[in-house]
Amino acid sequence: MDFRSDTVTKPTQRMRQAMVEALVGDDVYQDDPTVIRLENMMAQRLGKEAGLFVPSGHFSNQCAIMTHTRRGDEIIVLEDYHIVVHECGAPGLLSGVNLRMARSDLGEYDVEEVKRLIRGDDIHEPRTALICLENAHGNGRAIPLIAMEEVWQLAQEHGIPVHLDGARIFNAAVALECDVKEIARYADSVSVCLSKGLAAPIGSVLVGSKEFIEKARRNRKVMGGGMRQVGVIAAAGIVALEDMVERLEEDHILANYFGIQVDDIEGIHVAWDRLDINMVFFTMDHEVDLAAELLERDILINGPEFGEYRIVMSKDVTKQDVDRLVIAIKEILAV
Ligand SMILES: Cc1ncc(COP(=O)(O)O)c(C=O)c1O
Repeated sequence: MDFRSDTVTKPTQRMRQAMVEALVGDDVYQDDPTVIRLENMMAQRLGKEAGLFVPSGHFSNQCAIMTHTRRGDEIIVLEDYHIVVHECGAPGLLSGVNLRMARSDLGEYDVEEVKRLIRGDDIHEPRTALICLENAHGNGRAIPLIAMEEVWQLAQEHGIPVHLDGARIFNAAVALECDVKEIARYADSVSVCLSKGLAAPIGSVLVGSKEFIEKARRNRKVMGGGMRQVGVIAAAGIVALEDMVERLEEDHILANYFGIQVDDIEGIHVAWDRLDINMVFFTMDHEVDLAAELLERDILINGPEFGEYRIVMSKDVTKQDVDRLVIAIKEILAV
């Protein structure tokens, strides 16, 4: 039983079969029909002109940043975005850009603050070249469309492009009860992960205008991400889009079910204001190493981050697994 992340999901039988049978070519020559099909499918789903298959969500975000900016530019981000906290300082390292961080209000910007953070036309200052968004947010929240729209409108007024880290955009669409296009419309480029709740083994797709994707294709090569007969893995991505989007809601229902059970345990406090998708965050009053104790019972969870535990539902866990997890936590806490 593995509740560490939705990245741990294994490919389905249909994915494995599609991988075996995939038509392939050299994707650096743009000759791989399966990659082209996946890129077009994703672009169409998100209402954008073109797509680019890349190895990971991290790669996709960084390729987008490199494509939108020049060295010495500045990008506006929320302090708790994946790009800031979990991408190894790559914007500075790979694109030579400055991060201008805004305070996160449960994953939302304060638009008045963003107004202040956008640089003026002063030769001493870096150029504000990009504003980033993230939806669903890694804190478990689906960010309301109105919050995205406000940032988008401000960016439009200043002629600044917007990149959306949509690693879990399909989860966000389920939670917001809207089409993914309605989320993607508030960004010029969007990165979508296939290897999280959608269960493909590898890969993300970056989408945007034709012109943007052509530039990004060059930057993917700069970053060493020009892959060859990669239709073998794109084939699993196609199955992910065809088969796995509809079922994401099951993960959300299970997360909510677990949230209710675990919140009932004395000394455990679920962050209900962030329980929109497949992740449950909670803090604990008990002084116990829950991850180590659960490991003894063959249940995998991550240790706490910033004082919080995170339990993630995915297609590879069942309601029975969740019940066992709850029983195990009660046993460990002796409550
Ligand atoms: C919000 C968000 N963006 C980007 C990524 C990076 O994806 P990858 O692990 O494929 O690099 C993750 C990974 O968990 C994520 O949660």
